[in-house]
Amino acid sequence: MKQILVLQTSARSQGSLSREYTNELVKVLGERHPSARVITRDLALHPLPHLDETLLGGWTKPADHQTAEEREAASRSDVLIDELLASDTIVIGSAMYNFGITSTLKAWLDNVMRAGRTFRYTEKGPVGLAGGRKVYVVTARGGRYQGSPMDHQQPYLTSAFGFIGIDDLDFIHIEGQAMGEAEAARGRAEAASAIEGITIG
Ligand SMILES: Cc1cc2nc3c(=O)[nH]c(=O)nc-3n(C[C@H](O)[C@H](O)[C@H](O)COP(=O)(O)O)c2cc1C
Repeated sequence: MKQILVLQTSARSQGSLSREYTNELVKVLGERHPSARVITRDLALHPLPHLDETLLGGWTKPADHQTAEEREAASRSDVLIDELLASDTIVIGSAMYNFGITSTLKAWLDNVMRAGRTFRYTEKGPVGLAGGRKVYVVTARGGRYQGSPMDHQQPYLTSAFGFIGIDDLDFIHIEGQAMGEAEAARGRAEAASAIEGITIG
């Protein structure tokens, strides 16, 4: 393990469980791989712009037809992709909002899922170009959703990372946080024990 990219996404800067348990997981990974470099992007504190016409222009227009804004948007996406590709481990703190991931995490994915860089289309279908990386996702949720069709975090992130070639994902769920103190404590204990028992290659 050489570089761990940490993405924090909870809108709460205080009291966030996804942040707290993500930090705990990064601590465990760091203890087992002391030489690993850790870089953190706080996507809630420093949100990325949505995928818009400017970014699409930066990706698709010939260089001599691009505006300064389009060039800037494309180069921001390049920086994010370079950061992803330089990391062999990605750890994501993912608060559940309205059954899915935060819009800030979606904006990051929209910047890094880029044809020619992290995937390409072929006659046989799309091929991921970012494989060989490990992703850990720490979700925090008010309810319990594992295995339910209302869980739009795990299936979506599995598909999105799979599309760019990353199919080694581990999910740690902190569930039941709005279901009363006993359920909330059970959800936190399950997550803590999952982090403790994590196997690292
Ligand atoms: C705007 C908003 C939307 C939420 N939507 C859901 C939801 O759809 N399902 C759920 O189980 N919990 C939902 N929650 C509860 C959060 O998932 C829960 O508080 C979680 O702990 C947030 O992560 P954090 O502790 O890292 O901030 C929502 C919370 C907020 C603030």
